[in-house]
Amino acid sequence: MNSREIRQSFLDFFADKEHRIVRSAPVIPAEDPTLLFTNAGMNQFKDVFLGKGTREYVRAADTQKCIRASGKHNDLEDVGRDTYHHTFFEMLGNWSFGDYYKHEAIGWAWELLTEVWKLPKERLYATVYQDDDESFDIWKKETDIIPSHILKFGDKDNFWEMGETGPCGPCSEIHIDLTSDGSGGELVNVGDYRVIELWNLVFIQYNRGADGRLEPLPQKHVDTGMGFERVTAVMQGKSSNYDSDVFTPLFDRITELTGVSYTASLDSASDIAMRVIADHSRTLTFALSDGAMPSNEGRGYVLRRILRRALRYAGTLGCHEPIMYKMVGVLAGTMGEVFPELLRQRETVEKIIRAEEESFLATLGRGTEIFNEVVAGMKASGSTVITGADSFRLYDTFGFPLDLTRLMAAEVGLGIDEQGFEHCMQEQKSRARLDRKDKMQVQDDGGSWQWFTEEHPTVFVGYDLLETRSSLAAFRFSGDKLLLVLDSTPFYAESGGQVGDTGTIETDGYLFDVSDTRKDGELIVHVVSAARDKVRDCVVAPADVELAGAIPVEASVDRDARVATERNHTATHLLHAALRKVLGEHVQQKGSLVTTERLRFDFSHFSRVSAEELEQVEHEVNDQIRKAAGLNKHADVPYEDALSLGALAFFGDKYADRVRVIEVPGISIELCGGTHVGNIGQIGMVKIVGESSVAAGVRRIEALTGRAAEALLWKEYGELQEIRHLLKLKADEAPGPKVHDLLEEKKTLEKQLQESRLASLLDRLAASLAAGDEINGCRIMTDRLDGVSGDDLRQAAMALRDRVPCAVGLLCSVDDGKVSLVGFASDDAVKLLKLDAGKLVREAAACVKGGGGGKPELATAGGKEPAGVDKAIETFVNAVKAVLH
Ligand code: ALA
Repeated sequence: MNSREIRQSFLDFFADKEHRIVRSAPVIPAEDPTLLFTNAGMNQFKDVFLGKGTREYVRAADTQKCIRASGKHNDLEDVGRDTYHHTFFEMLGNWSFGDYYKHEAIGWAWELLTEVWKLPKERLYATVYQDDDESFDIWKKETDIIPSHILKFGDKDNFWEMGETGPCGPCSEIHIDLTSDGSGGELVNVGDYRVIELWNLVFIQYNRGADGRLEPLPQKHVDTGMGFERVTAVMQGKSSNYDSDVFTPLFDRITELTGVSYTASLDSASDIAMRVIADHSRTLTFALSDGAMPSNEGRGYVLRRILRRALRYAGTLGCHEPIMYKMVGVLAGTMGEVFPELLRQRETVEKIIRAEEESFLATLGRGTEIFNEVVAGMKASGSTVITGADSFRLYDTFGFPLDLTRLMAAEVGLGIDEQGFEHCMQEQKSRARLDRKDKMQVQDDGGSWQWFTEEHPTVFVGYDLLETRSSLAAFRFSGDKLLLVLDSTPFYAESGGQVGDTGTIETDGYLFDVSDTRKDGELIVHVVSAARDKVRDCVVAPADVELAGAIPVEASVDRDARVATERNHTATHLLHAALRKVLGEHVQQKGSLVTTERLRFDFSHFSRVSAEELEQVEHEVNDQIRKAAGLNKHADVPYEDALSLGALAFFGDKYADRVRVIEVPGISIELCGGTHVGNIGQIGMVKIVGESSVAAGVRRIEALTGRAAEALLWKEYGELQEIRHLLKLKADEAPGPKVHDLLEEKKTLEKQLQESRLASLLDRLAASLAAGDEINGCRIMTDRLDGVSGDDLRQAAMALRDRVPCAVGLLCSVDDGKVSLVGFASDDAVKLLKLDAGKLVREAAACVKGGGGGKPELATAGGKEPAGVDKAIETFVNAVKAVLH
């Protein structure tokens, strides 16, 4: 079977067993702050396992795009060196949500592997968790596995956890022995490429909380994951994943681009490099197709590191130009049918990767030179560890991620001082901006809900209503806040970039101020930060509120705030459409923030948006607003239908089977769960107030709408009128030319003033000019002119130098407690008499506790000791005399 057939036969097998075949979730997880990348098939079902969400089916199966290059599951360092690790891979999985359990999970896995795919039973091993006798017995009694092939392991191998926190449980794994003689029984779980894990069956029973404790879950679930590339290689009789048809087209392309052929050897440097390039091209292509961007923090930095690592390996194949972007087409061609986003995003992804490659290659050569210099220096001094400062310089100036430096160091037998690097990194505070933690979900502070009803997701009625009667379903305290869950609510919980609603919730006894609304799984959580006791008619701390049951409540959203937010939200859709029209179809949403006050919209674009383009975009949006079209809001549309309507779906959109579609007829169709105005005319107007860069290839536009836009324009107009008034201009006259003239005039006047100041200074100096001693034909001129600025003294000194053929002098002043000294020597004095104003001034400056210097012709110094000025003059004169005598 080829890889496509293998994938399909897995899905068919479970479809037959009444599993819903679902789409792979994006590799960039929506709304899960604990994960940078989707790392397992179960991620998209985390809420179901935790009892916070539901699906309309209890059995599911899919092939899930996974990236394991950061966090708990990180295979980056192994890639290339072995035959079966990848940073990107597909995980074939089947799930039961509180439905079937161990019997079926084990029985079906065995059936698929041995009866459908006919893998040799004598080569298969099953591992079970040390005290999971139930699974041990199922393997033994309900399958025909060789009983001695059932092995027990502990926490490390047979207890699976999603991350530091989250769903987890004991697991049973199926391994295959690929040794030539079938002698690999001892090699299970020892990390040997000849005996590898194929399939992991996890029996999810617990949640690992933030405090590290295991909490039993309300229901038991099955979560399985099989390495698609591994099983494909095994089925195709290959000893390495990289020899299967999943990778051959990638190697062919690398050969085409570099002239180097793949020889399928484990140790050859060029084969390692080719495996790295092939693997990394998949990770980059899939991540970018799902909307990620290389950047300097968080997941963007992981991707940047992966790209740079790949380029370094390409260099070892003799390729020193952009290559990774040329791999995108191969993946779109071979996998685009299964993952259509690869086809849709191909051009954008190529552009982003190419730009990244070009920018890194521009510094790679120079960085490598510096690296070689560092290594040569170390060889000479006998040290074996690259200092933190050196590796930080490579990082900071040449863009070498630490793992690249580590790799290059290891190649020449050196280590790196990782702590030292970390130290330098910490010091550079301005760059240490922490990755913004996703704040959409309620903080997981370990608190649990107190329910007054059966637990159930909150019904959201806020698309149609802003006020409703409902009843209290659950509550808990969090710090000094009270968190409330209602049966149903009109309050919109922060998501998709739109802030949560504010407003009030009233019961018979209390009036609560809701300052924010957040999600907790499918619960809508009202954050109460102030409360009033209606009976006692006084303010009470939210933490002191007493709630006794499913009491009726009146929930009211702050209408003005909500409507202002809706104007901003609908305006982002119009802005998005206008940007695509003016700048091009490559514009894609990369993020947005919609608040009551303003909107922020991030999008892919590769250069600054010019003032003219911004004007065009704004003009386009406002033109549309004036057409005052009504919005069509389609609730509950099947995802595939929405896409065929032409809806734009972007990164950050919550993955769902059924979606909400917001359509501005003829202008824009987007998947969007947010709230919107009914008619775009209600936006009033849009005013763009900022354009900036967020990361390479991502621009940000900020804008105001409605009242806020109007208020801004009035403020600006008012200020402009004031300027006109001050300039005595007519109401419609542009102030520019007049302001320009005034500035020119100011410049001329300043120049004149400066000249006349200098003239009067020179007048004052005429006396000292005449009075100074003359030795060897050289006049010594000194004077003290308090209140004159250092700059004016300098101008005067320069004028004097030019006036007197042979002179040396020191001008001093005390101005506002600060001493200025300016020494000068005319050309003859310097050349013929060897007088050096720099040296002389330095000596004089010592008397006023100061320092300075300059050239032999002209030197300046400052000082802090006004009392020493006369002494400074004396010192200067004596020093001159010492030279002249
Ligand atoms: N979630 C399990 C894994 O990733 C199946 O191995």
